Parts: sequence; structure tokens; C-alpha cells
Amino acid sequence: MRHDREPVGKAFSGVDQARPSSRRWDRVLRRRLARSMPKGLFARTILILVVPILILQSVIAFVYFERHTQTVTTRLSEALVRDISALVDTLERDDLPNRTLIAQRLATRHFGMALDIRDAAALPPPSPRPFFSLLDQTLSRLLQERFNKPFRLDTSSRDKQISIILQLDEGRIMEVRARRSLAYASNSHIFLVWVGITSLLLLVIALLFLRNQIRPIQQLADAADRFGKGQAFSSKFKPRGAREVRKASEAFLAMRRRIERHVEQRTAMLSGVSHDLSTILTRFKLSLAVLPDMEEKQFLQKDVEEMQSMLTAYLDFAKGAEAEKASLTNLKSMLDAIQRDCSRAGHPVQLVYRGDPMVTIKPNAFKRCLDNLVGNAMRHAQAIHIEAHNNGSFCTIHVDDDGPGIAPDQREDVFKPFTRLDEARNQDEGGTGLGLSIALDIARAHGGNIQLDESPLGGLRASVQIPV
Ligand SMILES: Nc1ncnc2c1ncn2[C@@H]1O[C@H](COP(=O)(O)OP(=O)(O)OP(=O)(O)O)[C@@H](O)[C@H]1O
Ligand SMILES: [Mg+2]
Repeated sequence: MRHDREPVGKAFSGVDQARPSSRRWDRVLRRRLARSMPKGLFARTILILVVPILILQSVIAFVYFERHTQTVTTRLSEALVRDISALVDTLERDDLPNRTLIAQRLATRHFGMALDIRDAAALPPPSPRPFFSLLDQTLSRLLQERFNKPFRLDTSSRDKQISIILQLDEGRIMEVRARRSLAYASNSHIFLVWVGITSLLLLVIALLFLRNQIRPIQQLADAADRFGKGQAFSSKFKPRGAREVRKASEAFLAMRRRIERHVEQRTAMLSGVSHDLSTILTRFKLSLAVLPDMEEKQFLQKDVEEMQSMLTAYLDFAKGAEAEKASLTNLKSMLDAIQRDCSRAGHPVQLVYRGDPMVTIKPNAFKRCLDNLVGNAMRHAQAIHIEAHNNGSFCTIHVDDDGPGIAPDQREDVFKPFTRLDEARNQDEGGTGLGLSIALDIARAHGGNIQLDESPLGGLRASVQIPV
């Protein structure tokens, strides 16, 4: 069995080796195509609309133009050559008196040409022929077919005239000059002009309609983007446009209402619980105050204080973060203030800010988020560096410290409410374990996130990133 299987495996491996390279090319090609395609929906739709119209119009115009021009030119040239043939016949009739006069009368009166007859032994030297001329080619062919005589043809003169010189029998030559339009479908370019104008007109109408169809999608994208960043969007936003877009907008509005209701309920519940617990805690404190001094009393008092600060933190958060409106704020000034506060508390902070300092944030909530991160660094470390960078799309703030840091496997857990590692580290003075979860909540309310990493200073790097 094993012996049988081996060649099969090898055969497959051969196919597999060939596939990745073709797949890679496929991927490279697709990536290039995606990169060179316009990014906006409007531009893409125009492309999808314009390219097929252009190809279709070009094919139709080319086929029709070629066929039409060729047929008409051939017919007109045949008529002209027939007329010339009648003149030649007349001029070569020996039995006809005044044949030259008759021929000239025929030419000017009936055929719309000028006829000139000269005595000459040979034709003048040929003029250079145009590189590509339908008229020249067609007339040459027809003249050759009709007369078994040498001739000279000049279709390229500037005065819209063609001249045909033919050798007659008796050492004479005749020259016929006629309007170009007698032999050539000269006005077929009007067809192209009409095709161009109507295509342009249709395209403009299509673009106007298209813009109206795309506007509701742009408004929906804008509203969703602002909602995601925790910013208010115009109350004028209403489901509009095609059925599918309207449906998506309605679903978005329903989702927004549900999220807002959910947040309101959560806030109300948290405030209620925190408030009720605060009342009980106050009663606890009062009862403890009247108890006689003993060792247990101190422990109890400490626990009650801890619970109180925990509740205050939660109450603050429940009140503040969601209700606040986002506004254009000078983030650099906010960081400067934090730096000053830290210095006053005996923690010099190094601050670097790059990019535009003005960002749209909920100032109080965002300050609380940064305070929590910097407060953690102050509690656990000595040196603190803050590095902020606004690149126009995102604003990133790194808070670095030289403390003990957080082990990679615990970096996710510390975001959970009431999670503190300090107890395990035997540090008694600690917070409620809510700081990071509140900070993360605030960052997410701005459409951003917080990430914990190892700091170049050796401790923890907490990075807040929000879209601007
Ligand atoms: N910069 C830091 N260096 C080392 N450990 C940290 C740092 N920041 C946070 N931690 C650890 O993560 C835990 C959770 O932090 P978090 O800010 O959520 O709570 P807290 O600081 O204990 O209390 P609170 O911020 O609510 O007063 C902390 O208990 C601490 O063990
Ligand atoms: Mg904290």
C-alpha cells in the first residue's frame, strides 16, 4: 500500500509546486489592478459606466463609418467615372463635328465639371500620392478598370477639387476638374459628431442621476463613521435613495437606537447600584465610627474606604463618558497639563508631541482615560515618557514607564473590571482595578483602542489610538 501511494504523493507535489507561482502572479496582478482602480464608489461607477459605452460607441462608429463611407464613396466615384467615360467617348468620336465643344458643354452644364483639352504627347509627371486616402484608392481602381489609358489623378489639392488627366487617342490630353464632394462621402464625420454629442449628453444625465444615488450611501458611511467615533451626526440624516440603501440606513438607525438605549440602561443601572451601595456604605461608616477602637475596626474602615473609592470611580464613569459631546480640543495642552500635575506630584514626565494638536474628542472623558494610564505609571514606576503623534488619520499616545510592567499573558486580563495584579505583588496601596477598563471604554467610545506592550524604558507601554 505504502509503495503504491508514493508516486501519487510525488505527482501531487509537482502540481503543488506549479500552483503557488501562478497563484502568486494572480495575487500580484489583482493587487496591482486593485491599486490602480479608483477608490471611491462614484469614480468606480463612472468607470463601469463609461468604459463599456466608449467601447460600444467606438465599435459601432468604426463599423458604420467604414461601411457607409466606403459604399457611398464607391457609388459616387463610379458615377464620376461614368461621366468622364461619356466625355471620352464624345471626344473620340471622329464622325462628330464640334465634338470638343459638345464635350465641354456636357461637362460644365450637365456633369458639373471643368474640362480642358490640350495638345500634348505625354502626361505630366505624377504628383505624390497620399499615404492613405479612400478616395484616391477607389478612383484609381475605377479609372483603371474603365479606361485602358494612362492617367494622372490628384485628389490632395487644397481647394477641395480633384483633377483627373487622361491621355486621349490623338496626341491630346484631357483634364477634368470636379468638386471633391462629387466623388466622396465628405460629410460622414457629422455622424461621428452626433454620436459624440449624444454620448456626452447621455453620460452627463447618467452622472447626475448617479450622484443622487450615491449621495445617500456617502451620507450613511459618514453617519456610521461618526457614530463609531462617538461623535454626533446630523439629525437631518434620513433613509434616502434606492431600496437597498434605504434599508441599510433604517437598519443603521435602529442599531443606533438600540445601542443608545442599551448604554442609557447600563448607565442608569450603574448609577442606581452605585448610589444605593454608597448609601449603605455611608451607614457602615457611621456604624464603624461609633464602634470602640479595635484592630478589626481599622481593617473594616480600610475596606469600606476602598469600596467607597471604587464606587466613586464607577459613578463618575457612568455619569460622564457617554453624555459628553465630542469637540475640537487641543490635545497638546491637555498633555501639558497632565505633565505639570505629575511634576507637582514628584514624577517628572518627558513629553513629545508631533502633528496637529487639535483633535475631536470628548475632553473630560479623554482626560480621565489619560489620567488613568499616567496614574498607573506613577503608581508603579519612576520615569514616565509620553509620546503623542497625530498623523491626520489616527492619533496615537504612548505612555511608557520603567516599572515592573505586565506579563504578556496578563495584558488582556487587566482590562477586565476589578482586576488588580497588585494584590499578587503584595502592594497594599492600590486602586479599585477599574482604571484600565474605564480607559478602554473611553477609547472605544472614541472609535479607538488601547494596547499594552513592553516599554523601551523596561516597564509597561500603554498605547491609546483613536481615529481623528
Ligand atoms: N504601568 C503599570 N505597570 C505595572 N502594572 C500595571 C500598570 N498599570 C496597571 N498595572 C496593573 O494592572 C492592574 C489594573 O490596573 P487598573 O488601572 O485597571 O487598576 P488599578 O490601577 O489597580 O486601580 P484604579 O486604576 O481603578 O485605581 C493594576 O492593578 C496593576 O497591577
Ligand atoms: Mg489604575
